[in-house]
Amino acid sequence: MLIFLDTIDLKAIEKFVQLGIVDGITTNPSLFLHATQAPIKIIKEIIHMFPHGIINVEITEQDHDKAYIQAVKIRELGNNVVVKIPAHDMYLPLIAQLIKKQIPINITLVFSVSQAVLMGKMGVQYISPFVGRLYDNGFDGIEILKNIIQSFALYGFSTKVLAASLRTIDQVNKAIELGVASVTLAPSLLEEICCNQLTEQGIQKFAQDWQAQKENLFI
Ligand code: E4P
Repeated sequence: MLIFLDTIDLKAIEKFVQLGIVDGITTNPSLFLHATQAPIKIIKEIIHMFPHGIINVEITEQDHDKAYIQAVKIRELGNNVVVKIPAHDMYLPLIAQLIKKQIPINITLVFSVSQAVLMGKMGVQYISPFVGRLYDNGFDGIEILKNIIQSFALYGFSTKVLAASLRTIDQVNKAIELGVASVTLAPSLLEEICCNQLTEQGIQKFAQDWQAQKENLFI
């Protein structure tokens, strides 16, 4: 199971890469909104910091030729770079072209089973259903994720499902219980998973009890 960090925050990336918890990074154009450096500079820094990670960078062009050039340039940033492309029909010829060129693709902004199945059939490496945004729009995100995972298993697609836009620990738990191939998590959500309240309370209780029985110290 792969864990991606959904961020361009270099400090967070450094922290979790050093801990060996994450397998890669996902980025999207919105994450660069308040960046203080040029996106390309940040992307190169991420690739440099995480040479063995799978780094996802999204295209922003909509015109076919420009999007093709951009996708190729993104891939040329490194052998570990995956090109993110939205699941929109305007990009279908581009996706087909990039598959022929054996450029790894992550189809982003996936919101339905049929959309996911079409992409799986085309043979992309990853598809990213946006679980949180499905809930934002009144759909059952985990149910749709489940149906995507089941249909991929049924049809034998090699495409990995990457659960994205996960907002709560409960959603992450449910995605894992479904056996999802990969998840992407914002650093704050990953921090939250690492700091379970009951673990915290348990440590405090053990420490109190240990202090209360000084007679029996064995270390
Ligand atoms: C994943 O690739 C996306 O960048 C991310 O999960 C989107 O999450 P959001 O819906 O919270 O913006």
